[in-house]
Amino acid sequence: MKTLKIAVLVSGNGSNLQVLIDKMQAGKLPIDIVAVVSNKADAYALTRAKNANIPAFVIDKNEQGKTYKRAEFERLALDVLKPLGVDLVVLAGFMKILTPLFINGVKDELNAPMINLHPSLLPAYKGLDTHERVLKSGERYHGCSVHLVTAELDAGQILSQAVLEVHPNDTPATLQNKVHALEHQLLPRTIDFIARGVIDVEDVSDVYRFWGN
Ligand code: GRF
Repeated sequence: MKTLKIAVLVSGNGSNLQVLIDKMQAGKLPIDIVAVVSNKADAYALTRAKNANIPAFVIDKNEQGKTYKRAEFERLALDVLKPLGVDLVVLAGFMKILTPLFINGVKDELNAPMINLHPSLLPAYKGLDTHERVLKSGERYHGCSVHLVTAELDAGQILSQAVLEVHPNDTPATLQNKVHALEHQLLPRTIDFIARGVIDVEDVSDVYRFWGN
């Protein structure tokens, strides 16, 4: 089985990154995390990368202290990733919307697929504040999805989902915690399936789903 060279893009805490690091170090996931890229200098995910001796790149502000424009960030990130031979780009808590410049660059320059972890059962509840909206709509089910990244936000081919039942006493905070815990299972499982060829990102015939409670 092929060891997948992975780049993980982050903006914040990085608990999903930590799960990947832990499984990689335990020999439980056939991946090599070759880079962690953050658009925020204060993202705790950077500390997690450094503690694991993974090359960490911050693309946040330019020499004049100005936050990089979207296109500048995307070009710099591609330039960082290009020499690394990345097989898969993973967005794990990456909170910047990407434009076709980066999305096509990953496809054409890195020749790699890109996946995103999203806290809802896509195609429902794209975008932000998913837990609040799920509760307001009185949904019976909620969960998280891993999907291929395309230019349309949260709309690429769905690869996998973890599902939970919403309880009457759930709040946005309890749902967030439960979905986060599910993400920690879904992301490594999905990457494992990609590495093993169970999921073929070029030809997705089925969505892999499991129950989280
Ligand atoms: C997750 O809830 C993910 O779905 C969303 O951002 C969060 C990242 O969490 N896109 P963490 O930074 O991995 O802890």
